[in-house]
Amino acid sequence: MTARRVVVAGAIVADRRLLLAQRSYPPEVAGMWELPGGKAEPGESRESALRRELREELGVEVTVGAALKESVALRHDLVLVALRAHIEDGTPRAVEHRAVRWVDADELRRLHAEGSLVPADTAWVPELLADLAKR
Ligand code: CDP
Repeated sequence: MTARRVVVAGAIVADRRLLLAQRSYPPEVAGMWELPGGKAEPGESRESALRRELREELGVEVTVGAALKESVALRHDLVLVALRAHIEDGTPRAVEHRAVRWVDADELRRLHAEGSLVPADTAWVPELLADLAKR
């Protein structure tokens, strides 16, 4: 039996803006925007994995909060989850991504409408819009 690997992504909202990162690879999704993150290592908790990934990819230290409700099956052995995160130290920069940007609710809706979000991440748009409306 293959163990199910988890990909963790960070939903970082501050000042009514959400942090998005633009993928640089693979070609199918290069140029599209995602919640930054990556695969948890075997035995690594989701929270530790997200802290490690955001340190590596954005150069920030985060604390990790509650998960978004939706999770997405990427493959039979890979599931994508999003955890809310809060930046404690550092300014996000694109280390592995092409760019990073903060978007408000209207910009998130527009990116979604024009198909500029990584497909799997579109599942989170309603919840992200709700978060953007209250924080
Ligand atoms: O670098 P690593 O293999 O740890 O992670 P990744 O390549 O960034 O992500 C692993 C898989 O999750 C890829 O298939 C990504 O396209 C997918 N992913 C996603 O669909 N949405 C995200 N927000 C992050 C990753």
